[in-house]
Amino acid sequence: EKGGYEHFMLKEIHEQPKAIQDTLTGRISEDGKHVVFNELDWDQNYANSINQIHIVACGTSWHAGLVGKAVIEKLTRIPVNVEIASEYRYADPIVSKDTLIVVITQSGETADTMAALREMKKRGNRVLAITNVVGSSAAREADDVLFTWAGPEISVASTKAYTTQLIVFYLFALFLAEKRNTCDSQTIADIVAALRQLPELAEKSLESAPIVQQFAQQYADKEDAFFIGRGLDFSVSLEGSLKLKEISYIHAEAYAAGELKHGTLALIVEGIPVIALATQTHLLEKTISNIVEVKARDAFVLALAWEDDTQVESTVDEVIRLPRTLDFLAPVVTVIPLQLLAYYASVARGNDVDKPRNLAKSVTVE
Ligand code: F6R
Repeated sequence: EKGGYEHFMLKEIHEQPKAIQDTLTGRISEDGKHVVFNELDWDQNYANSINQIHIVACGTSWHAGLVGKAVIEKLTRIPVNVEIASEYRYADPIVSKDTLIVVITQSGETADTMAALREMKKRGNRVLAITNVVGSSAAREADDVLFTWAGPEISVASTKAYTTQLIVFYLFALFLAEKRNTCDSQTIADIVAALRQLPELAEKSLESAPIVQQFAQQYADKEDAFFIGRGLDFSVSLEGSLKLKEISYIHAEAYAAGELKHGTLALIVEGIPVIALATQTHLLEKTISNIVEVKARDAFVLALAWEDDTQVESTVDEVIRLPRTLDFLAPVVTVIPLQLLAYYASVARGNDVDKPRNLAKSVTVE
């Protein structure tokens, strides 16, 4: 059942190219220039009426929501909040009838996310669920549903569910941008074309495994690690950090790279592993200056940079080269080496990778 892999997590990491393909299938027009969501029968009037979006989720799904916010805001200029479900449900959120609620949950059963869904429906808001499980509570109770089609995810640590959630957010943002006319058709066609390349690029990103494995083995006895990045790289840093903590039990923190000097630099000491995500070209100079700051404190820096990078390499100890796509789509290829890092660190420490202590796959208690 593990298809020759030692753990479900490794199998599911490797299933990502196919999962991404399955998520895209049927959602791109024949001419390859538009997004089609047959499952959303939204007319122009409804699409135009949305004046605010609240994305509500827990854990890894919340991290996907952070990327969703950036992507939707960039393409549609609709203001988006990303909320942690266990906070949101008690926060008396400020919404109007034109606020769209998007809940995102792999299992479709997470208690806090479901409570938020029910509360917002009761208030009369339209709720869209992004979920992986057909027939789940979220799928049944939401007004609209977009499935991620990742296939069953067995490992407690979420991998292919996250990447397919990202794909759904890209598609959804493009769909809204087309309906609301906030993007020119060439930009939309270019992004759609780049999305179609992602299964192949995810496959290439998996080729980072040997470097990642070596790094993980070398640093498996450390008790702390930092992940830094700016913009979308920061959102993915949060996910990389959670994954590492969750299954290797190494304490990790993700920092917006520019925040380090606001209290954290003292913790950057000799030999501490810092994983620096450096894919956002418009922020690269700033990220590099943050890398230089941690290098000055003798951290060991592993960077994730584009395959054609010429700037990051000279400032770090080791580089993982990512297959080139649009900066905007970077999270899909960047997260894969980070999943592998958590995986190999967990294996090196002799942990039960697929069933980390004290965690359940679907959290149906509050
Ligand atoms: C982390 C992980 C959890 C889940 C969270 C939400 O690897 O799996 O953080 O993402 O419990 O679960 P869903 O998406 O099922 O609502």
